[in-house]
Amino acid sequence: MPCRIAILVSLGYNNRMRDMFSKRSEAGSHDQNALARIHERLATEGRTLKELSQSNPTRVNLVHDTSLFELSSRWNELYTPEPRGLLSARSALVSHFSTLRRCVEVENLFLCASTSEGYSWLFKLLCDPGDAVLIPKPGYPLFEHLAALENVKTIAYTLEYAHASGWHIDIDAIAAALAGQEGARIKALIVINPNNPTGSYVRRAERSRLLDLSERYGLALISDEVFFDFPLDRAVERSSFMGERRVLTFVLDGLSKRLGMPQMKLGWIALSGPEGGVFAARRRLELIADTFLSAGTPIMNALPGLLARESEFLSQMLLRIRTNYDLYREILEGYEGSPHRVLVCQGGWTALVESPAYLDEERAAQALLEVAGISAQPGYFFDFERGVHFAFSLIIPEDKARAWCVEYRNFFDTLQME
Ligand SMILES: Cc1ncc(COP(=O)(O)O)c(C=O)c1O
Repeated sequence: MPCRIAILVSLGYNNRMRDMFSKRSEAGSHDQNALARIHERLATEGRTLKELSQSNPTRVNLVHDTSLFELSSRWNELYTPEPRGLLSARSALVSHFSTLRRCVEVENLFLCASTSEGYSWLFKLLCDPGDAVLIPKPGYPLFEHLAALENVKTIAYTLEYAHASGWHIDIDAIAAALAGQEGARIKALIVINPNNPTGSYVRRAERSRLLDLSERYGLALISDEVFFDFPLDRAVERSSFMGERRVLTFVLDGLSKRLGMPQMKLGWIALSGPEGGVFAARRRLELIADTFLSAGTPIMNALPGLLARESEFLSQMLLRIRTNYDLYREILEGYEGSPHRVLVCQGGWTALVESPAYLDEERAAQALLEVAGISAQPGYFFDFERGVHFAFSLIIPEDKARAWCVEYRNFFDTLQME
């Protein structure tokens, strides 16, 4: 009997109680995996772990002006329940994006607590129970939970890797899934632009084929652009879906990544598309948003001031992610006969490293943690099916990135000798 269930049974949990709960919350009843258990044990033993996959921007020694977190405004006393969020905050976003040459109308912006919540609203808007959405693989595991909690199925489409040219979306596989419809009505195509953890932007040619397919099959397009403004190279080919008019389009973004402020809880959905569809979607989304009224007044009042400081934050982060990416390549690939490869990455906060299979991936992750004290997310976490991959954070301080990456390399050197 798995250990968590055994504990629950000893506390009087029985089948009747189990039936009380919804199927969609079932993922929350699963036992922790072995890696998480080792992590917890080492942490309780007081071991300081090297968080090589750290993606929490509040834990990576960024220089932030602390007054940005204070949110003091005399307007915070007033509660104005607007379904889409305060007009002043939405107007600030419209002008901010226009300086980035991205276009969204103020009436088509919906503020919510986070991008994750934005997804749940969109699933409510677009899907009935049992409907499906297309998601990228490798991809961030959160999407499956978000969909499952709304009784929505996910169908994965693959991103293929070639070291010479990087990641490519397997669009033929998407076309095949749509043609077959795999027993579920597919309602939306989700792209992560750039994808997490592959760091690949949607290419121009891919974009046009994805739009063709969405148009042909009547799909909504959801583009998650939380990492869009973190390109590793100025020249990288990237284009935002914000303002796209061919199909009903929802661009998700928020302060969590854009300003490294996940704790402030503000995200948004930018809607665009053919006029009739936008009108209908806006009415329905307004009802959903009005039911929750999630965005807090203090953070909405603070938004114009926060956006004014965005470029400071971005330049700090861009320097860091570019420096760390180069560092990882130098340490892991910069010598003859290196068995490691840092996969081509165009942007975002994560680089993927492929390492030799001296151990299978799960055992390598466990040994890395127990022996070297390095906590790194293995490829299976992101649905990699082959090889040994680890996610390296691009946002950790440079001295840690260097030291931990050298320890990682040494760990594999030792494995090779055993
Ligand atoms: C691609 C992507 N989208 C959305 C999120 C969640 O963002 P939020 O904190 O706004 O919910 C994450 C979290 O890491 C992410 O990687």
